[in-house]
Amino acid sequence: MNILIIGGGGREHAICAALKKSPKLTKLHSAPGNGGIAQIAECYPQVSATDIDGVVELADQVTADYVFVAPDDPLVLGMVDALETAGFKTFGPRKNAAIIEGSKSFSKSLMQKYNIPTADYAEFTDFEPALNYIKTKGAYPVVIKCDGLALGKGVVIAEDYTAAETALRAMLIDAKFGASGKKVIIEEYLSGREVTVLAFCDGDTVVPMPASTDHKRAFDGDTGPNTGGMGAIAPTPYYNSEWADAAYAQIILPTVQAMKAEGRAFKGVLYFGLMLTVGANGEKLPKVIEYNCRFGDPEAQALLPLLQTDLVDIMEAVAEGKLADLEISWSNEASACVVMASGGYPASYDTGFEITGLEEISGAEVFHAGTKTAGEKFVTAGGLSTAPPRFETSGGRVLAVTAKAPTLDTALQKCYAEVGKISFEGGFWRKDIGLTAMDN
Ligand code: AMP
Ligand code: GLY
Repeated sequence: MNILIIGGGGREHAICAALKKSPKLTKLHSAPGNGGIAQIAECYPQVSATDIDGVVELADQVTADYVFVAPDDPLVLGMVDALETAGFKTFGPRKNAAIIEGSKSFSKSLMQKYNIPTADYAEFTDFEPALNYIKTKGAYPVVIKCDGLALGKGVVIAEDYTAAETALRAMLIDAKFGASGKKVIIEEYLSGREVTVLAFCDGDTVVPMPASTDHKRAFDGDTGPNTGGMGAIAPTPYYNSEWADAAYAQIILPTVQAMKAEGRAFKGVLYFGLMLTVGANGEKLPKVIEYNCRFGDPEAQALLPLLQTDLVDIMEAVAEGKLADLEISWSNEASACVVMASGGYPASYDTGFEITGLEEISGAEVFHAGTKTAGEKFVTAGGLSTAPPRFETSGGRVLAVTAKAPTLDTALQKCYAEVGKISFEGGFWRKDIGLTAMDN
């Protein structure tokens, strides 16, 4: 089987590494790919992840048996639909289902219609009524979100009226988020612990993966700006079977049924960002914070090394609507993933620094995100040189290092020992990944 993977981050490297284990695989291709992916797949850096025509053409050129569309933006733009129209088998939701991530206005009204627990909300396109709503409610913090995709930056937790006004002005008047912020969702603030539940879904059957926990803030102690994610652990220790049962019954299955009832059957990986809230009588009330239409990054880098079932078999079962017939198994180890980022990320940063120490890594898997091979001769797979490849930084999140062990504590120790071997100028990483997940 020839498989083409769209995307070029750590998540896509982890997906490639999982697919690579399949005896069914002939060759992997990736557009655009990155330095690490280029070691196991043929990369096409000239084709961007959102270039729908370019990807359809490439799928044809490499005679792809499957195209795995991993990032949110091409899914929301309808890349799967275009590939299907051109006769290709795909992994990922169609545009009419990817909207569950592409529009918060859509997902909030879906939850309201089908009684799926989430924060109370209202939506606005005009500044004055939005501000009046916040003033009348008078409850802080209040959460203000752009309707559309905003690279994880379209959510503001406003502590007071002034902060709320600033956020609304940026979105609705100054159009700092472009079209994504023309409509805003104003939401009740929820407190509790957060968890990510990813689930394979074939339109009817939904199979949750082990829960994971992302760390979105840049610095230790959950301080600093929001990032794409600085590390993840799986499985999440505090997400016990009671929480899992409650989430499945109240959220996971109802969401998949709701999408089907709306004529928007969801096929692919559905991401449930949940807040674990507790009701007045101590009952477990998980609520949806957000849906995404894809694997999380870095959750995928923590989870996929635990997957024991062939990902190609899962991909086929999802596409063919046969997920109910497939047993999906996971290692019962714990996994810890630490992201190493360029100094300055998520704001501006320099690139082009050599990454050293990768050849010292023995107890972990390293997934590349913002890297490229230094020197043209290493750009494609196929081993044009026998010398070990050299890599340099080319993005904000540079690498994700994942280690597995029988306990989370030992997985973290192992992971950090390996992280300490790698260096590049200005690089930083959080030193506290997984720590809050361990105190119960
Ligand atoms: P989102 O992009 O919707 O996941 O929001 C980013 C982050 O903001 C989440 O991971 C939460 O930590 C936080 N957040 C979003 N919505 C709420 C809410 N209603 N209450 C509390 N925190 C929230
Ligand atoms: N880790 C958060 C996301 O993938 O959206």
